[in-house]
Amino acid sequence: MGLSDPNFDVSATVYNDIRPPYLSEQVDFVIERTGLTPDDVVADIGAGTGKLSRMFTPNESGKTSCKQVICVEPSNQDGGMVDECHKNMAPYATAATVVTGEATATGLADKSVKLIVIGDAAHWFQPAEPVCKEFKRILKEDGKMAVFVRFPDPKAEIVQDLHKALKENCKTYRSTANKLVNDIDIVAKKSGEHLLEPELTTSSQSYLKATWTKEELLRYLQSRSSTNSWALEKENEALIYEKVIDPLFEKHARNTDKISIPHISLVTIGKVRKYEPLKSAERRDRDQKNAGEGIL
Ligand SMILES: C[S@@+](CC[C@H](N)C(=O)[O-])C[C@H]1O[C@@H](n2cnc3c(N)ncnc32)[C@H](O)[C@@H]1O
Repeated sequence: MGLSDPNFDVSATVYNDIRPPYLSEQVDFVIERTGLTPDDVVADIGAGTGKLSRMFTPNESGKTSCKQVICVEPSNQDGGMVDECHKNMAPYATAATVVTGEATATGLADKSVKLIVIGDAAHWFQPAEPVCKEFKRILKEDGKMAVFVRFPDPKAEIVQDLHKALKENCKTYRSTANKLVNDIDIVAKKSGEHLLEPELTTSSQSYLKATWTKEELLRYLQSRSSTNSWALEKENEALIYEKVIDPLFEKHARNTDKISIPHISLVTIGKVRKYEPLKSAERRDRDQKNAGEGIL
């Protein structure tokens, strides 16, 4: 993607209003495991509206988890992610900075960051090699990365019902190969497996509920990344209500005007993966193989 993706900008208010907050116990887990101190700088890459960044700033009681949080976000159209992030981070004054940048070009100084955090965004950081190089450049020697991801629990009946109804009735859902997030490759990408050094990671899994009215569920479904990768923005709203939302509420709302969608919340901590330059023998073997296949 380019520096600004309008599809994320139009979803900025949904990210603010509808998507559930990150779990404070998982933020505490990261602070403790990475040994973050009040002198450290945290960078939230793909910060969006600052939902995760906020949780690393000094809180109202004066407890300080770090010195400063820098929010790096590429989607900077008017009223989009960067604007929302500025608004949300303003109360933290000098403890928070918002910059326009992306994973391969953060604009941050060499060795200036102790902890990189990523919230529901790691799967966008492809190909991994230039991203890891940039992360290594900005991280201190002992710097770490923490990747947060939340997704509807594929084992929950309500999530399976939602998925089935969307698949059967919504063309845009089918045409973007949406799958339930139970595919091992999808979970691995969302958890940043391509960015983390294998076998040096530690993770924590928890559960949270997103409780929504019909209108909130519609907005969530219309926003990017609601299920796996795409939004129902071009789908007829009346059809989504009739075929998807109303039947879901009829079955699961149990006489209230809200439903709860169970989500899995995962955080993985580790070192940034090291991409070694190819040694000359490996390069020669690769070139010979490619020549044989005519792909030079
Ligand atoms: C699903 S949103 C998550 C936003 C935020 N971290 C949160 O938890 O609410 C993904 C974010 O990643 C950003 N993004 C996408 N590709 C990116 C890239 N190559 N570098 C940095 N950010 C990127 C998008 O603009 C969007 O704000």
